[in-house]
Amino acid sequence: MPPGPLAWFQVLPNTLGVLRNPGGTFERLRRRHGDPFSMRTVNGRIALTAEPAGIRAMFTAPTETFKVFAPQAVRPLLGSRSVLTLDGPAHLRARRLMLPPLHGAALGAMARAMAECADQRAAEAAQAGVVVAQEFGQRVALDVIFRTIFGVADVALGERLRSALAGLMAATNPLLLFAPPLQRSWFPPHRRFASRRTEFDEALREAVRHVEADPDAPPSATKLFLQARDEDGRPLPWEELRDHLVTLLVAGHETTAVALAWALWFIHARPVVEERLRAELDSEEQLYLEAVCHETLRLYPIVAEVLRELAVPWEWCGHALPAGTSVAAVVWLAHRREASFPEAEEFRPERFLGKMPPPWEYLPFGGGQRRCIGAGFALQEMQIALRALLRAGRWRLADPAFPGLARRNVTMGPGREVRLVRREK
Ligand code: HEM
Repeated sequence: MPPGPLAWFQVLPNTLGVLRNPGGTFERLRRRHGDPFSMRTVNGRIALTAEPAGIRAMFTAPTETFKVFAPQAVRPLLGSRSVLTLDGPAHLRARRLMLPPLHGAALGAMARAMAECADQRAAEAAQAGVVVAQEFGQRVALDVIFRTIFGVADVALGERLRSALAGLMAATNPLLLFAPPLQRSWFPPHRRFASRRTEFDEALREAVRHVEADPDAPPSATKLFLQARDEDGRPLPWEELRDHLVTLLVAGHETTAVALAWALWFIHARPVVEERLRAELDSEEQLYLEAVCHETLRLYPIVAEVLRELAVPWEWCGHALPAGTSVAAVVWLAHRREASFPEAEEFRPERFLGKMPPPWEYLPFGGGQRRCIGAGFALQEMQIALRALLRAGRWRLADPAFPGLARRNVTMGPGREVRLVRREK
């Protein structure tokens, strides 16, 4: 293994360090041990790098090199047929099914529904005269997923799903997720989680029935999944359909909401950025807005590291790693490499104008065969939501100090509420 804290007594401090402050922990370890470095956490021994050659090797390795990292942590929530818990051919098959609703023409067709959701939330914010960036992000992201992924237009059903999801998330205890032996009915938190999951699944099933019963239902991922057939002409079983829809919801709403909150902070902390965005607000091509989204995801990547477990022994970054160890591309450090991004600590959207760094230097959505399938969806939604809020009014930060960083589940977001207050000019 590359050098690093690998002793058993370092498991707890390492794990807590990565949970509380992944960026700071990775920076400290690299300063002390160089790149690549290693660490041992509750998920075993991990070798990490931020160098493009190692990340490139990871993203281009043959499928059989890796297994999915720590599937037991998300299986109770996402199920055993989710892309996030499957490996090998089953993973590829699930990915092939999930890609079409989130790409190309289907994605373009979702733009109008996304804009309707965002405009409505932006109008509410304008009327209130104040907006909490995280709440705005959450509301837009959930509305968009309910409409475009689930195909839910009915307000009452949307509310039922929203409250069932809040109950499910409140009952999702990290201890439970990371300790599979506790996923048993004798353990009260697990019982509570299981009953909330049943409630959510029932609401989701009702939503799917609505789409199934309506031949004129607007385009949605649910509609496409319902039309899918396997080699023998059979439709997807409910359990599989459920796992795909819940995966898209869980992977897609918190991430996009947090990214929106960061973007809103940067835009309003830097008047020149805001003015430049406003100047192109009504033009056809919004290249600067897109660059602002990329620069936000570069400087504050929502996911700090992308992990895989080795299914076979693998020679990586000059080290012969045994099967069973894990490897990680440290997004946080890669995005702060001076060689890739000069003046890396500065927020400079211009660096993305007309050029994209290679995928082993800029990787907010991971890469290779597990790259985020919602990347295009998220970028489109971010741009639509930011434009809606800018159009709805002029805003200033209630507190312009940097909000700090905090972890929520797997995402890293602003450490405190980012509050915007309406201003006249
Ligand atoms: C700004 C928003 C988002 C960020 C930063 C983000 C980031 C990521 C990252 C880092 C991964 C892991 C990639 C890897 O292991 O190489 C991932 C996977 C995934 N994301 Fe996203 N994501 C975002 C939005 C979305 C949205 C909107 C959806 C769906 C609607 C989505 C669905 C997924 C799925 C299904 C996977 C698993 C792919 C697989 O394992 O094959 N994500 N995302």
